Amino acid sequence: MFKINHQNILKGKIGPKNGLDEGALKKFCVNAQSHVGTILKSADKEGYAFLKLPDNAKLIDQIRRFAAGQKKYQWENIIVLGIGGSALGVTAIKETLLGCFHDITHKPRLIVVDNIDPVFVTNAAEHLDMKKTLFIVISKSGGTVEPLALYALAKEKMEKLVGKNWQKHFVFITDPVDGLLRKMATDDKITAFEIPPKVGGRFSVLSAVGLVPASLVALDVTGLLRGAKLMRGYIEKNKGIENPALLLAATQYLMDKEKGKPMTVIMPYCNELFRVADWYRQLLAESIGKNIKTGPTPINALGTTDQHSQVQLWNEGPDNKLVIFLRVLKHATDLKIGHNLPKPMDFLNGKNLSAILDASYVGTSESLVKSGRPNLTIDIPKIDAVTLGALFMLFEFQVALLGLLYGVNAFDQPGVEHGKQITKKLLSSTRVK
Ligand code: PA5
Repeated sequence: MFKINHQNILKGKIGPKNGLDEGALKKFCVNAQSHVGTILKSADKEGYAFLKLPDNAKLIDQIRRFAAGQKKYQWENIIVLGIGGSALGVTAIKETLLGCFHDITHKPRLIVVDNIDPVFVTNAAEHLDMKKTLFIVISKSGGTVEPLALYALAKEKMEKLVGKNWQKHFVFITDPVDGLLRKMATDDKITAFEIPPKVGGRFSVLSAVGLVPASLVALDVTGLLRGAKLMRGYIEKNKGIENPALLLAATQYLMDKEKGKPMTVIMPYCNELFRVADWYRQLLAESIGKNIKTGPTPINALGTTDQHSQVQLWNEGPDNKLVIFLRVLKHATDLKIGHNLPKPMDFLNGKNLSAILDASYVGTSESLVKSGRPNLTIDIPKIDAVTLGALFMLFEFQVALLGLLYGVNAFDQPGVEHGKQITKKLLSSTRVK
């Protein structure tokens, strides 16, 4: 599927201080192989149910029927109201498969409103024609302040604008039974899709959470699931260091525990994948950042942009990072530079942008090697729904493995819940107007 080049984490390449011994890495992977089996056998258990999402053919049918039924409304805007795991995956799908300028070029537009900043929300409301808008309200718990506050505003607006037909402007995605959103769906007769109870928010991108919005903007939802299924099969079949999820998890774990590298940079050389790095940041941070003194802290970056922003720090600053590059081997389009640049920049003449981008990746990676800084590269053949689905499954599996390696529950988020409770208590008091 994806080739992972791990040469630049080995001591033969970056020296014994920061480099892993290949034999020891292989042995570690062989010993940790049992964790892969444990995860694969746990698909019915709390949290691990993300593994079964690619098999949900019934959901695909349901989503297709729903999307077909929406065509008659000719929506101009599909607005997702959600936050965290109920928003980041949708944004990742949108930007990877529709590109960064989608909002200008595509109808319907897919817009994710994942904050309650009043100016941001006012701008969204003022610039979009609400009569031509479908809102997808997403909340696994059905009780998160941000999406419910946004829903309340949207409902009020739609009631004023369209009267008793307001419900047709809403669809919910939430728990099948529990939570306020489910209750409101029943009370107000609003179509509601289910998030399987044993799938956590940040592992839910391949459930209705990602697939309903994707389908409404005509993206290849079966491709996403097919890619995830292929990756799950690949992980099941390949053992030890050949198993990409195991290699990634083992590298992160050993770099942290043995080489003092508790930070993981994820750096796609591709704008479309930048939001996947955002999604991954939450997946890693909320899943593994608990009950432990050290552990991987995710950092997002974009190549080449962040070469001119963060690479100095990684090369010569604190020696505490592992860099993971995502390298796209074939870009969907390319542009060739003419022959009009004078010396000393005439070496760019006649070059494709993809070649310049790739040379920049090589330059960054090799400069890190020269400084003895560990980095590895995931080669992605091309960007499409299948490869994106495979990436989602690869990273989810890798993070589930990290949970077992660190001995933490990768599927809860007590630190987030605590903050949510304090906020609710504060807002319930009369002090806040
Ligand atoms: O991963 C998680 O569980 C969280 O980040 C949630 O996605 C986030 O807090 C939003 O919660 P909910 O979907 O319940 O509104």
